[in-house]
Amino acid sequence: ITETEIKKGLAGVVVDYTAVSKVNPDTNSLLYRGYPVQDLAAGKSFEEVALLLWNGELPSQIELTEFIATERAGRALDAGVKAAIDLLPLDCHPMDVGRTAVSVIGARHALANDSSREAELIKAKELFAAFPAVVAYDQRRRRGLDIVEPREDLDYSQNFLWMTFGEEAVPDVVDAFRVSMVLYAEHSFNASTFTARVITSTLSDLHSAVTGAIGALKGPLHGGANEAVMHTFHEIGIDKDESREDAAARAKAWMEDALAAKKKVMGFGHRVYKHGDSRVPTMKAALDRMIEHYGRHEMLGLYDGLEAAMDEAKGIKPNLDYPAGPTYHLMGFDTEMFTPLFIASRIVGWTAHIMEQRASNALIRPLSAYNGPEQRSF
Ligand code: CMC
Repeated sequence: ITETEIKKGLAGVVVDYTAVSKVNPDTNSLLYRGYPVQDLAAGKSFEEVALLLWNGELPSQIELTEFIATERAGRALDAGVKAAIDLLPLDCHPMDVGRTAVSVIGARHALANDSSREAELIKAKELFAAFPAVVAYDQRRRRGLDIVEPREDLDYSQNFLWMTFGEEAVPDVVDAFRVSMVLYAEHSFNASTFTARVITSTLSDLHSAVTGAIGALKGPLHGGANEAVMHTFHEIGIDKDESREDAAARAKAWMEDALAAKKKVMGFGHRVYKHGDSRVPTMKAALDRMIEHYGRHEMLGLYDGLEAAMDEAKGIKPNLDYPAGPTYHLMGFDTEMFTPLFIASRIVGWTAHIMEQRASNALIRPLSAYNGPEQRSF
């Protein structure tokens, strides 16, 4: 095997078909089951988008009503899951809490090892409904606050924010949150989705695949980037009273130093998109609305300063995590909770891919080129 035959990082390797989403880097576009993601973000609820990704078509009114009822009935934090979370130290990473919670949910599920499409869809919908309570409870316990029970009169995004903050969020905030959920839901064969498919390909169960996917998502080269973006903002320093221009100038200087030191700056670059991430304009518009709502123009200064300096120096564009991080910060989430929010959304894409992998399975088992010592004896 020659050096060029080795596809390090599987870059450019096409491993299977998928009908779930289409990423087109040439036109910077992303389609979920044929629909442009920006159109879905403009006009559809996250619940409708979830049904679209699972079923291939947007739901009828009856299907949607039925799903909404199931989702609202399945939101409460299960006592066994809560007990497991309570065993975890407050200083462990919230991604570890999310990963453990999904594993516990799987171990306690009556259909855990039933891989029929019907059972997989039930488990996917239940996980979609149950996961927000994991994030909300974990956020609250880290702040020394009591759990807030879900409310069936609220939609998914309203209720997520309600359970986290114990107050009703205003419509603008709810909408920015919904947009982030829609945009994070699916993105073809990214590292975590591929992980889920690898696990599924061994005929393992859905919760194992999602648990593994969460492990892959945690890393800063993937989902952990939304958290890392906020660490960058904090490292530069956020000063609410600073002007937008001054914040931008400091951010620009920080970026120049970082690039001179050959640092990788999280929230920029993408394996597939080389001219910009299709999801960024929609998420940036949501961030802009949050900046207006909270009156935090210095955050926009930091955002613009980093973006401009990166573009000038390397021509590298932001990815979705770049506008998502500050958006979640403004909403009031702790920085470490950002990637668990990504889980809540990506559960949809992962489970859609798990079902697709099952439907035409082949064990995923690549080869390696050995470069250790020749055969020897001891
Ligand atoms: N900061 C500085 N330089 C960068 C960055 C960055 N964020 N991204 C790429 N580069 C440079 C890199 O140093 C390399 O330069 P050179 O050729 O001079 O060595 C060149 O661009 C190619 O980069 P690469 O890492 O070989 O490209 P890749 O396709 O393997 O990387 C990536 C894709 C996402 C891992 C990378 O861009 C990166 O590490 N970005 C930061 C992490 C991040 O934001 N991840 C989120 C990804 S998208 C959303 C998600 O999944 O959550």
